[in-house]
Amino acid sequence: MSESSTPPVRSIGTLEAAAARVLPAAVWAYVQAGAGAEDAMRANHDAFRRRTLRPRALTDVRSLDLSSRMLEDRLAAPLFVCPMARQGLVHPDAELATHRAASDAGVLSVVSTLSTRSLEEIAASSPQGPRWFQLYLQPDFVASRNLVERAERAGYSALVLTVDMPVLGSRDQLLEHDFVLDADAPVGNGAPVLAPSRPPVGERGHFHLRSDAGATWDVLDDLQSITRLPVVVKGLLTGEDARRAENHGARAIIVSNHGGRQLNGAPAALEALPEVVRAVGSEVEVYFDSGIRRATDVLIALALGARAVGLGRPVLWALAVGGEAGVRRFFQLLTTELATEMALTGRRRLAEIDRTLLGAERW
Ligand SMILES: Cc1cc2nc3c(=O)[nH]c(=O)nc-3n(C[C@H](O)[C@H](O)[C@H](O)COP(=O)(O)O)c2cc1C
Repeated sequence: MSESSTPPVRSIGTLEAAAARVLPAAVWAYVQAGAGAEDAMRANHDAFRRRTLRPRALTDVRSLDLSSRMLEDRLAAPLFVCPMARQGLVHPDAELATHRAASDAGVLSVVSTLSTRSLEEIAASSPQGPRWFQLYLQPDFVASRNLVERAERAGYSALVLTVDMPVLGSRDQLLEHDFVLDADAPVGNGAPVLAPSRPPVGERGHFHLRSDAGATWDVLDDLQSITRLPVVVKGLLTGEDARRAENHGARAIIVSNHGGRQLNGAPAALEALPEVVRAVGSEVEVYFDSGIRRATDVLIALALGARAVGLGRPVLWALAVGGEAGVRRFFQLLTTELATEMALTGRRRLAEIDRTLLGAERW
C-alpha cells in the first residue's frame, strides 16, 4: 500500500467508508470492533448527537487561539492521538507515520505498549514530540519497570497507565475472523511484552496469568517510586475511581470507555465526564476519549470540562487511506473545522468554552 497509490483524505465524513474499502476484512474487524452487542460503542456516538450548541453572536472572531497544554506539553490544539496497538496492520509505516503527522500538527501522541514499531524507533522518527508512553502492566513488575525506563530514556514526557483492560473485552468481530492478536500482529517492544489475556472461561479457556489482572491501586505508588514521569490514568468512568486515582498521585485522568471495546454495559464516556470532573481537584487534569469524530464533538467534551480530547479510530482510518500524509491531512481538516466551529459559536479561546455553550438536548 504505497502512499502514492492510496486515495487522498478529502473530508472527515468520508474517511470511515474509504478505510473500509482499503483494509482487509479481518483488520477492519479489529479496528472497528466494540464489546459484546456494541451498546457502549453506539452510546458514545448517541451522547454527542443528542447535544446542541448555543452560539454567541458578534464577538469579533478574526483571531482565534486554539493552543492548549497537557501537563507540561504545549499543543497547537487540544487534541491527542489515543494509544492504539499494532498499527502495522493498518499501514506499513505504522506508528512512525501516525506520530510524525501528529507531531507536525502540534498534537500530542500517546504511544501504545503494543506498537508494531519499538518505542525508541517511534521517538527517533518524531523527535519534536510531544509524546507520552501508554503502559499495559506486564505480569512481572520488572518487565513493566523495564518499559518505563526505556520510555524515560527515549524522551517520553508522561506515563499513561491504562486500567480498563484487566482482561480483553469480548469482541464478536474478532471471534468471527478468528483473529489471534499476538499471532497475527506481533509487537515491536520485544518478545517479553505481552497484551492482556482473554478471561478464564470460554473456548480459548487457557488463562495465562500474564496481564495486569491482579493489579490494584497500589500499582500507582509502585510506578511513582520507579519514575520521575507524571502518571496519567486512562480508562476511568466514575467519580469514586477518579478520587482513588487522585489519592494515589495521578496527575491526570483520561475519561474513556476504550471506544466501547471493553465493557459493553459501560455508559457513554461523555456521560461519565461531568462526574469525574466534579470528583477531582483542579490540580488533576481531565482529558477525554471515546466517540470523538468531528469538531463539534471536541467542543462538547471541552464544554463538559475536558482539557483535551483523544482521537482513536479516525486516526487509523486516515492512516489506512493515506499513510502519514493522510493523518496529517486529517488533523488539518479537524483543526480547521474546530476553528470554524469556534468562530460560529463566538468563542475565541478555549477558556471561553464552558457549560454556557451547551443548549437543550435534541432528545
Ligand atoms: C485498534 C485499536 C487499538 C487500541 N489499542 C489500545 C492500546 O494499545 N492501549 C490503550 O490504552 N487503548 C487502546 N485503544 C483504545 C483507544 O486508546 C481509545 O480509548 C479509543 O479508541 C477511543 O475511542 P474512539 O475509537 O471512538 O475514538 C485501542 C483502540 C483501537 C480502535
